[in-house]
Amino acid sequence: MEDFTFDGTKRLSVNYVKGILQPTVTCDIWDEIWNFQAKPDDLLISTYPKAGTTWTQEIVELIQNEGDVEKSKRAPTHQRFPFLEWKIPSLGSGLEQAHAMPSPRILKTHLPFHLLPPSFLEKNCKIIYVARNPKDNMVSYYHFQRMNKALPDPGTWEEYFETFLAGKVCWGSWHEHVKGWWEAKDKHRILYLFYEDMKKNPKHEVQKLTEFIEKKLDDKVLDKIVHYTSFDVMKQNSMANYSSIPAEIMDHSISPFMRKGAVGDWKKHFTVAQNERFDEDYKKKMADTRLTFHFQF
Ligand code: PPS
Repeated sequence: MEDFTFDGTKRLSVNYVKGILQPTVTCDIWDEIWNFQAKPDDLLISTYPKAGTTWTQEIVELIQNEGDVEKSKRAPTHQRFPFLEWKIPSLGSGLEQAHAMPSPRILKTHLPFHLLPPSFLEKNCKIIYVARNPKDNMVSYYHFQRMNKALPDPGTWEEYFETFLAGKVCWGSWHEHVKGWWEAKDKHRILYLFYEDMKKNPKHEVQKLTEFIEKKLDDKVLDKIVHYTSFDVMKQNSMANYSSIPAEIMDHSISPFMRKGAVGDWKKHFTVAQNERFDEDYKKKMADTRLTFHFQF
C-alpha cells in the first residue's frame, strides 16, 4: 500500500483490475471488494462515473425518508452512502463504512456489471442503474478529473477525448458499462434509468423510483422531493454538493462538483471534427445493442 498524503498537487496512482482501470488503492483491496457480503435489504445505486449518481442518491434517500429533508442533511453524501470500491487514504473506505452502517443501507458503485460482487445477485438486492448520454458524460468526467486529485490528471480536452474513447479512464469504457448493465437488467432486479429522462420529467422518474422501492408517497411529498433534488437546490446544499471534501482532494475552484447539470453542454466542448469522430466510433461500438440515448432536447 503506498504511503500517500494529498497536498493539492499529487494524485493517486491507478492500475488495472481485471482489465478495468482503478485507483491503485482499490486494486490493493480488490479481493475484499469482490467478496463483499450484501444483505437482502441493501439498495445499490450503480452508475458510470458522472452519470447522475449523487442526484439519484439524494432522491432515493428522500423517498426512503418520506421527504424528510432534515434527515437527509445529517451528513454529507460520501458518509451517507458507502461507495463500495472507494478508498481515500485520509477519508477511509466504502467497505469500512458499509460494515459499520445499520440496515437498510443505500450503497454506491461504479463497477461494470461483470465486476459486481456476486453477493448482490445471490441476495437478489434491488439495484438502480442510471445512464447518461456519453457526450455529456465525457465532458462532466473531464472537468471532474481536473478538480479531483483522487483521479488521474485528464490532460488537455483533446487528449482526454481520445483517452475516453479508448476506455482508458477509471471504471473503463462507457460503452461496455452501459451495455453490460442493460443486458443484465431483465435478468435481475435492476431499474435502468436515464439522466436525460430525469432532467426532462423529474416527477415521473421519482415516481418510478418510489414504485421500485415499494413506497407510497402522496403527491405533495413527490413535489417536495423534486424541488429539493433540483440542480439549483442541490448545488446550495452543503450535504449534497461535495463541498465538505478537503480542497486538497476536490478543488471546486477549478471546476465545481455541481457544475452545469445540463443536457447538451457537450456542444460547447466538441469540435465538429470530434463530433464526427465520436459518432462514427459510437455507431460501431453500439451496433450490437438496442440501447439508445438522447443527446439533446
Ligand atoms: S460521481 O462523482 O460519479 O458520483 O458524479 P455524479 O453524481 O454521477 O455526476 C455528477 C454530474 O451530475 C450532475 N448533477 C445533477 N444534474 C442535474 N440535477 C441534479 N440535481 C444534479 N446533481 C448532480 C452534476 O452537476 C454533474 O454533471 P455536470 O455535467 O458535470 O454538471
